Amino acid sequence: MKGIILAGGSATRLRPCTKVTSKQLLPVYNRPMIYYPLNTLIQAGIKDILIIVAPERAGDFLNLLGSGSEFGVRFTYEIQDKPRGLSDAFIVGENFIGSDDVTMILGDNIFEDNLAEEIKSFKIGGKIFAKKVSDPQRFGVVQFDKDNKAIKIEEKPEKWISDYAITGLYVYDNRVIEAAKKVKPSKRGEIEITDLHNYYLGLGELEVAMVKGEWLDAGTFDSLLEAQILAKEKLQDKLII
Ligand code: DAU
Repeated sequence: MKGIILAGGSATRLRPCTKVTSKQLLPVYNRPMIYYPLNTLIQAGIKDILIIVAPERAGDFLNLLGSGSEFGVRFTYEIQDKPRGLSDAFIVGENFIGSDDVTMILGDNIFEDNLAEEIKSFKIGGKIFAKKVSDPQRFGVVQFDKDNKAIKIEEKPEKWISDYAITGLYVYDNRVIEAAKKVKPSKRGEIEITDLHNYYLGLGELEVAMVKGEWLDAGTFDSLLEAQILAKEKLQDKLII
């Protein structure tokens, strides 16, 4: 299993703080934001990790994280020239992934749960992680039938379909590379990760696991503040890096 942290983008919602550095390097209590998703991958025993960054911020990531030896893992870096969408990570990462399976986590996603067993038990297809939220319109959303089987997945639905957001942690088998190459840009001009979930859902090979503890996407000032509090009050003794 290979790991990817997607840490590009321009983070305009966090200006002016992101004028001189990347969102994923801003402090979340006593660690840079990227340490939290990195912790999730390292806890799962993933040793080969690709960090995808925006061109103008590459040096900052290298200075902070280096080769990975400090964490007992190996980092590879790739530049994403433009934020083309989340599915692009599997195209940018094609050579790195090789013929392996891959776990991708977004560089601004912070999980309270230790998801090591969920990641290690992956076998085939796709596995994504859902969490009940009060503002599902901000996220990719999954709808279940009465037997709790996922039946529909939509990116930021205009009309309510469910309260279950899809978090920014994705485990896929190697077919994801070819599937990503076939994704067409959405209305907002991005190749959406939702199309990859739907690819595996269509094959009947998508598993949706539930996140029990807190989960945050620290992409706005309010969620960044919530992340700081979560990190201080609940995460300090759970982090291994
Ligand atoms: O946080 C979970 C949500 O993340 C999911 O529920 C959605 O299905 C998924 O599309 C994504 O939604 P966002 O609107 O939060 O995506 P955003 O465009 O903010 O990108 C997420 C992170 O990935 C962000 O930290 C920047 C980075 N990124 C984004 C894009 C589009 C890249 O590095 N490259 C990109 O091309």
